[in-house]
Amino acid sequence: MIMMKKVRKVPYLMPKPVALIGALVDDKPNFFTVADLCTTAYKRFVISSGKAHFTNKGIIENEAFSVNIPSQEMIVETDYCGIKSGKKVDKSNVFEVFYGEDLKKVPMIKKAPITHACKLVKNIDFGDTHYLFVGEVIETYVNEDCWAEHIPDLEKVQPFSWFNDNYYRKVGEKLSKAYQIGKKFEEI
Ligand SMILES: Cc1cc2nc3c(=O)[nH]c(=O)nc-3n(C[C@H](O)[C@H](O)[C@H](O)COP(=O)(O)O)c2cc1C
Repeated sequence: MIMMKKVRKVPYLMPKPVALIGALVDDKPNFFTVADLCTTAYKRFVISSGKAHFTNKGIIENEAFSVNIPSQEMIVETDYCGIKSGKKVDKSNVFEVFYGEDLKKVPMIKKAPITHACKLVKNIDFGDTHYLFVGEVIETYVNEDCWAEHIPDLEKVQPFSWFNDNYYRKVGEKLSKAYQIGKKFEEI
């Protein structure tokens, strides 16, 4: 018999992809790490950002931010940007940055295999500890070596995830084809 145990009411989404959120704060690039992010309608990112974060100032003032997908070889810098605040340390030299063609004031990480420049289209405040920044993707850049015809090549991008046991893990192996395996249900 299956027994379900009622536990602390937290949203367990496992895995959570890891990204670096960037903005110009007082004209200097600053990045912080997030694991609370999602996409909507194929064109937006939603990120949950603690109200005390230094980067928020730049996101709100410039009405823009970048979403950078780090590779596993960037794990040290990625964790560092999640440990140290721009309020205490200068994080502007952690990464070499570039700027896009449309959103001129959005620093993006050169080393990141995938990066997006987003326009802040909404800042939702539930009156608690975090802002919910909704960004519409205006430009997307992918490292040429990581591009596989129509989409980024996962094997080359080598993203990683954060789990609730507070460990980073690699993304797993292929299981089965999406929008296809479900058809088997009617055969069972
Ligand atoms: C793995 C990891 C995931 C994190 N996820 C989030 C998140 O989703 N939202 C958030 O507000 N802070 C998150 N943080 C904490 C911020 O990255 C951290 O407080 C950072 O120092 C803020 O930088 P800033 O003050 O320079 O903006 C995370 C940190 C780590 C290490």
